[in-house]
Amino acid sequence: APEPATLVIFGVTGDLAKRKLLPAVFGLWQDGLLGSAFNIVGVGRQDMTDEAFRDFAITALKESKETDAILPGSLEKFRELLYYEFGEFGEDDVYDRVRTELDRAEEEHGGRKNALFYLSTPPSLFEPISNGLGRLGLADESEGWRRIVIEKPFGRDLASARELNDAIHRVWDESQVYRIDHYLGKETVQNLMAIRFGNAIFEPLWNRGYVDHVQITASEDLGLEGRAGYYEEAGVVRDMLQNHLMQLFALTAMEAPAAFDADAIRDEKVKVLRAVKPIPKGRVGSVAVRGQYGAGAMYGEKVPGYRQEPGVKTGSRTPTYVAVKLEVDNWRWQGVPFFLRTGKRLPKKVTEIAVVFKRPPLGIFPGGLERNVLAFRIQPDEGVSLKFSSKTPGQEMVLREVVMDFRYDAFGAQLESPYSRLLLDAMLGDATLFPREDEVDHAWQIVSGLLEAWEAAPGSRTGKTGAPELSNYAAGTWGPDEAEELIGPDRRWRRL
Ligand code: BG6
Repeated sequence: APEPATLVIFGVTGDLAKRKLLPAVFGLWQDGLLGSAFNIVGVGRQDMTDEAFRDFAITALKESKETDAILPGSLEKFRELLYYEFGEFGEDDVYDRVRTELDRAEEEHGGRKNALFYLSTPPSLFEPISNGLGRLGLADESEGWRRIVIEKPFGRDLASARELNDAIHRVWDESQVYRIDHYLGKETVQNLMAIRFGNAIFEPLWNRGYVDHVQITASEDLGLEGRAGYYEEAGVVRDMLQNHLMQLFALTAMEAPAAFDADAIRDEKVKVLRAVKPIPKGRVGSVAVRGQYGAGAMYGEKVPGYRQEPGVKTGSRTPTYVAVKLEVDNWRWQGVPFFLRTGKRLPKKVTEIAVVFKRPPLGIFPGGLERNVLAFRIQPDEGVSLKFSSKTPGQEMVLREVVMDFRYDAFGAQLESPYSRLLLDAMLGDATLFPREDEVDHAWQIVSGLLEAWEAAPGSRTGKTGAPELSNYAAGTWGPDEAEELIGPDRRWRRL
């Protein structure tokens, strides 16, 4: 278990804290993973007593789908670990009270004043909170370890991400900073590393000699979920591509690290991100497609288009779908394109990484010239499948594609929430699954051209098809037709 510590959650009354963080902390605590000398200080701008906050948190736990089965008496005990402070994040008072909370925790538990500060707030508050903690000496580690967890989005473009990194570093050392990308907390994302580097049969094939291309898909069936305020500003490139998909890409494409430790892994991720050709602002149309969902049907029910969602501007040009082709300039991947796609209101929720191999050099049977595919299903139906050709029964030598399938539920264990894993890692001081400053920077460098081109020239047209760059796709379909052109003509997106 981690040393005695206090978890301080800024923005504790927000959606993320209610739906994900509190359930994750509760689950860890109930499993005995946080030790007994632990408490939580919620911080918000709303005036609330400790008792009111406790009620709020218990209700959140009962309502969240993510809460583990609650053992008898557990909630009552958990309740006693909770405290609340309120104030304006730009003023010193609130940080002063947080400091008093750490003093009290030390008196209660003994030990040092260890603290994990979790910034679960809108991004505009990251810098003021970090500065406030710094002003009151709360980043200083002389009385215990101090770490800061920063939620996404980390910046809104390359320049602002750099400014934010600079601002954070004026207060914290990089070793104290934990930038969250919850995809890295998913079991099956970690399994990608396990399978690549824990087996001998995959690595020899994992390169331009055998791989034709790679497809990374994160499709979501959900629409806006009442998040128009955030999403209108962010759009799909900032919401999913720059972070989650770039992380999946880096883990798929990186070289084997020398050891399974934070810096060895992050060094390799950075190396491959640096090898990616940044998307050229002037040629965006040839390597990327964006779209926005229109009205359509999901699972047989009519749903409104993006522009009809509450809070979205009538003429909004915010993309909800993006597909890109990345080229990696290194020895391993020269000439092997990586196609990434993600969007909202696609037919179903599925995240997968598919490594598509080259065709056999010669077809001596009818059929049988298909490309083999090794697919990592990140969610749902977590698992790994290998598609290859086999003889079909009968007199004739006719081949057909078959699938060998490993399902993660064969382990019989419930998958942990990514937030539990990441929270515990941060408490233990293990930064392996947290993107480092330079990773975030390179991921922004790659997508910057997209944002600049798309945000500078609304309404301009792609040269090739003459279609508007922001194509509509009906909710419940697999995105704009241009995405097929992007990957084609000899390749096609997997039908998932
Ligand atoms: C979040 C995005 O980071 O990831 C959401 O802000 C998206 O828009 C979510 O829905 C997807 O995460 P998951 O774990 O459900 O695949």
